[in-house]
Order: sequence, then structure tokens, then C-alpha cells
Amino acid sequence: MMHFKFLWAGLCTVALAACQSEAPTPLVASPEFVIEVGKDPHSFAEYEKVSIEHLSLDLNVNMAAQRLDGHVVYRLNRHEPGWQRLVLDTRDLEIKDVTVIRPDGSYMGVSWRLGEPQGHLGQPLVIVLPAGIEQVRVDYASKPDAFGLQWLSGEQTSSGKPFMFSQSQPHYARTWVPLQDTPAVRYTFDATIQAPQDLMVVMGADGNPEAINQTGQYAFNMPQPIPSYLMAIAVGELNFVSTGPRSGVYAESDWIERAANEFAVLEEMIDIGEGLYGPYRWGRYDLLVLPPSFPFGGMENPRLSFLTPTIIAGDGSLLALVAHELAHSWSGNLVTNAAWRDLWLNEGFTVYFEARIMEALYGKKVRDMLAKLSWDGLAETVASADVADRQLVRDLSTRDPEEAFMRVPYDMGRFFIDWLEARFGREALDEFLRAYFDDFAFESIDTETFREYAIEHLFERYPDRATIDEMDAWLYVPGLPEFAIEPQSDAFEQVDALRASWLAGQMDLADLPVTEWSVHEWRHFLIGLNGQMSPALMEAMDQQFELTTSQNVEIVFLWLQLSIETQYPPGIERLENFLLEVGRNKFTQPLYAALADTDWGREWAIEIYERAKSGYHPLTRQASERALGLSSDIIGPN
Ligand code: BES
Ligand code: ZN
Repeated sequence: MMHFKFLWAGLCTVALAACQSEAPTPLVASPEFVIEVGKDPHSFAEYEKVSIEHLSLDLNVNMAAQRLDGHVVYRLNRHEPGWQRLVLDTRDLEIKDVTVIRPDGSYMGVSWRLGEPQGHLGQPLVIVLPAGIEQVRVDYASKPDAFGLQWLSGEQTSSGKPFMFSQSQPHYARTWVPLQDTPAVRYTFDATIQAPQDLMVVMGADGNPEAINQTGQYAFNMPQPIPSYLMAIAVGELNFVSTGPRSGVYAESDWIERAANEFAVLEEMIDIGEGLYGPYRWGRYDLLVLPPSFPFGGMENPRLSFLTPTIIAGDGSLLALVAHELAHSWSGNLVTNAAWRDLWLNEGFTVYFEARIMEALYGKKVRDMLAKLSWDGLAETVASADVADRQLVRDLSTRDPEEAFMRVPYDMGRFFIDWLEARFGREALDEFLRAYFDDFAFESIDTETFREYAIEHLFERYPDRATIDEMDAWLYVPGLPEFAIEPQSDAFEQVDALRASWLAGQMDLADLPVTEWSVHEWRHFLIGLNGQMSPALMEAMDQQFELTTSQNVEIVFLWLQLSIETQYPPGIERLENFLLEVGRNKFTQPLYAALADTDWGREWAIEIYERAKSGYHPLTRQASERALGLSSDIIGPN
């Protein structure tokens, strides 16, 4: 367990609220005490003593100053009635005042103190909690460089209006709201947000508008308890188009029509999800299309998934990502990993669920292709990752939880569930999963809770199909177990044969049956060209298929990697524009890393990065700087 020393200099300094009517209580009698991170090593919150039950946000959005400014009131649940303090997670927040609210509604100032900054964990905010107090108010402002927010100026958006959005997962909510920033704690919330009158505010909550509100004031409510990493807000020149009775799309004017067309299948996807694993319990399901600097493909914010615009390909070919974020409405948002070591409970189940939705929509052939892509990617990661990172459950206690997000919890988690399906049969597994989502709805659980549940409801119920030792090998032993089942794709075997005969000079490019190929076949074809291309072959392919100008980001990305490998000039030119426009980490990070690996590309990449970085999200900056070997200013707690 890590200790974070929190020095209390003699008797605490005292912050008094204007309406204070009683002398504040000293925080502790002893001159020194220690705030220890608890069961969740990435949070200072002592949530087993006292936890947040509900929070009310009242914030003003200052686009010019790039600050959220206002206050938050917590209603607390005291698990140990005599417990005398509340510890909240904060990072780079300006804490202005802390008061408590007595049962009669009157305010009282209390002692509070910010601990020393601990790298990515931020600073514990320690507040005295007098007996009988169940409500606390913190007045605060976020800083312009808050890691969990991106502020874009009007010059950086397609509408010409400024834009702001949050990305709280894994532990960045604390950079814009002081809270118990651990997925182990769930709370409901309401929010009042004041923004400039020409912009719209949306949140991962109930109450999203259909049209701009002339007062600039918006009210939200989240009646289902959520963990802090699902707190989400965005402000910008947004428009709304409905895609069904309980679904719709938000985007800037430039994107809204293309987005609504691309996501027309959304309502049907929700129906499929419900058919598989039970009722969708969140009311509406909308999508928010963000500017291209959004650092991820998607983020499963409740009721309102956030998406990169790069998946709008014009032909619905990249919708697996929407299926993925929707699936999180069950795996992740409904049943949540209690800490980041258990991330596979969120992501592994979700990749499996995503595959089931894709299969229901597009058939088994598509499911098999996606599974094979995922297997090949995983095999590569497993071969190169540190041994301790090659297993589903990993000790992250001394690490930045950002590092939890690699392929292993996603793809190995998914192949574990695929394996359960193969051993127990689809029918039994589906029944088990429906019960699992029901029994743990709105709870945060760890791997061991899942394991016990699976033993009781699956392994013991259907003996002789699989052993607990086999399950433990998946969970706790590095590497894919040798009994894992490799997916087969007939379509990809054909692609392999065609690629081989083209490379052997036995076939013309013009004879490749590309008109029958989906983006998945294209990806498999291009991945297999790694290490086999020359500038001349690149040029021939480009003439035949116009890959440099492809509108499909997955194809472009692979093409750009091949362009770096072969130093293919048209590809390198596109690469420059791509890096200046797109901040999606999955692409930018490997592209910078590939450039940094060449003798000709590193300086050039650094120069592009310097031009691009003002438009990048803090996360993309951090990852790009690491990829380029530039120093990063984020230092861990050790
Ligand atoms: N929950 C993740 C997004 C995320 C990743 C947040 C890392 C914080 C750190 C989301 O559901 C996700 O997995 N997104 C993927 C897409 C998916 C299809 C694999 C992404 O953004 O690439
Ligand atoms: Zn996910």
C-alpha cells in the first residue's frame, strides 16, 4: 500500500464561510497524519467510511478564460457515523471555499486543507466533517490546463465557435470536479450550467436540449447512480437530429447531416442490445460527435456517448465503435469495474458484446473478420508487452491507470468470454450474462466477485465443461492460455491467398476483387503488407486504389504506416495533414512513434508536433511526447 504523507502544520489553517456562525473544528489534534490511498490505489477517498450519495453541480462555463467556475454540494452517506473527515480527489483545481450545511439548512465554515500534489493522482482535499453533518459545499474553479477538459478556440473548430468537452476516464474527473474519483463509488447528480448564449450545453445525463436555449442556462439530472469516470459535459455550437424515439445525434453544423446519416441504425442497435442482455436502463441513448481532436474513438458517457468524427466514413463501415460504446450501457455503466485493475470487466465484456451486436446486424462473416483482426493485434501486443502486462488482472497500484488501457483487457477479455461461449454454449452463456447484469445492476464489482459468481452460476451448474483452473489461467496467468480458441475467417484466408499471389507477381492489382471488399478485408490486406512494400509498389497500389486520398480512417492509418516504412512521398504529405487535423491517440501515437524510429523522420515529426499541439487534447500531447521521446511533464507519485 502506498502512503502519501500529508503534513498538517500545527493547528490547521481555517477557512471561514461568509455565513459562518460557529467556530470551525480543528481538523486533527495531532500535528501530522497520513492520507493513505485505499482499496482503489488511484484515489485518496476513504469511501468505506463516508461516500458521496448525490452531488449538485452549479457551474459557469467561461470559454474565454477556459474555466469552469462555481460550486458543488455533496449529500453524504456515512458508513462510520463517528468518522470526522471527508477526503476528496482533486487535481489542478482552485479550491476557494469549503462549508458544511447543517440539517436546518444553515451554513458553517469548516477547516480544510489541500495535501501535497502527487503526480497524476493530484491532491487530496481534506475536509473536517463535524458530527451530524451530511452535506458539504465546495466552491472552486478548474484551471485552463485541466487534464480532463479540452478547450478549443473558434479558430480550432469547424463552426468557428469555441468548444469544450470533458474526458473523465480513468481518473480525470478530479481535474474538473472535486469528488471521490474512484469507480468503486456511485452517486446520482443534478447540474445547473450557465454557458454563453450562442452555445449549447450537453451532459451525460437526462435533460439534454433539442435546440439552443437563449438564456444559456441548462439543467440536468442523473437519476441512476454512476461512477465518477462517467461524468461528462460538452459545450459548443451543437445541433440535434433525432434517429428514433429514444436516440439521436449531436454535432456541429458541419458534421450533423453526415453524422445523422451514418448513425441511422442507432435505434436498431439499442433494440438488439436489449434483445441480448435485457432492458436498456438509461432512458435515452444519444451520440455526440466531437471535433477531430477528441483523443479516443469513443467514450461511453451514460445516455450520451462521445465519438470521434473520424468514424464517419460515409458508408457505415466503422459502426463497430458505436456498438462498442452502446454495449457499455450494460458492461461498464451498469456493472462497473471497482478499480482499474479490473478494467477487463468493462472492456472485455464490451468487446464481446460489441461482436454480438455486429453479428446480429451484419452476420457471422463480419463477426469472424473482426475477431481475427482483434486476435492478430492481441498476439502482437502479447509478444511485446512486459510479462506482467500479459494477463487480464494486473497490479496497477504504483502505476498511472492510463496504462491499464492496452489491448489485453479488451481483446484477451473478449477471447475469454468467447471461450466461455464455446465451452458452455451460447444459450447458457447468454442466460448467465443476463442474470449477471441483473444481479449486479448499478454496482461496482471486482474480478473476484465475478469469479465467485461464475463458479456458482456457470461452472458448478454445468460441470465438466470447463475448470476453475482454466478460468484462473485466463485471469491471472500471463499470456493467452494454450486452450484459447483462435478465430477463423474464410474471407481473410482468401485475402491472404490473393495478397501472396500479387506479391509473387502472379496476379495484377486490377484483378483483386476489391469491389467485394469491406473495410475489414482492406485492413487485413494492408496489415499483411507490413515489411513487404517498396515505393514502386506503393505507387502502383495508389494508382489503382487511390489509398492516399481514402476517406476511411482505418485504411488511411494503415496506408500512412506503410508510407512511413517506404518513405512514400504522397503518403508523407497526407500524413502531415492528418497529424495536424486528427488528435485520436490510437492513430497519432503509433504514427509519431513510427516516425521517431526512422533516421529521417524524428526531427520532422517533432516540428509537426510543435505546430499541431495547440489543437491536441492534453492526453494526446502526453502520448505524442512520449512517442517522440520528448520529456513529459506528468510525473507519477513515486
Ligand atoms: N472506455 C473507452 C475509452 C477510454 C479508453 C477511456 C482509454 C479512457 C482511456 C471506450 O469505450 C473505448 O474502449 N474506446 C475505444 C473504441 C473501441 C471500439 C475499442 C477507442 O476509443 O478506441
Ligand atoms: Zn470500451
